[in-house]
Amino acid sequence: MKVSREELMAAARAAASQAYAPYSKFHVGAALAFADGTVVSGANVENVSYGLSLCAETVAAGKAMNEGRRGGLVAVAVSGPETHAITPCGRCRQVLGELAMLDGSDPLVWCDGPEGVREFRLSQLLPEAFSGL
Ligand code: THU
Repeated sequence: MKVSREELMAAARAAASQAYAPYSKFHVGAALAFADGTVVSGANVENVSYGLSLCAETVAAGKAMNEGRRGGLVAVAVSGPETHAITPCGRCRQVLGELAMLDGSDPLVWCDGPEGVREFRLSQLLPEAFSGL
């Protein structure tokens, strides 16, 4: 892996500072590491119609796909407020799964929290993923 866990988590923590979260005040950052060493980050973007809010992981995945990425996802780091053990919501697991599905990868997912970083595989967080028709 070209980017270390510490580097990717630092990118996620830095990304959280760009969150637009005036409603929840819960700032989240996500950073995606690709096989070529590229890191794409995102932060949550909320909406006055609360349900339209976008999570950090979804923003990062959208940015990466809009930059032309169609695979090569090796790791994801997510960080929220330091008091909080974070994990991606169900929708974000499915969104990340789309990027992973394109080349059959199973990225590591590093989740920040007050008791340290927890490590998962996306397949643990999204078991029995729907793989299309
Ligand atoms: N949120 C994320 O961006 N990522 C997560 O993994 C969990 C939750 C956002 C959604 C909402 O803007 C705020 O955090 C509070 O739920």
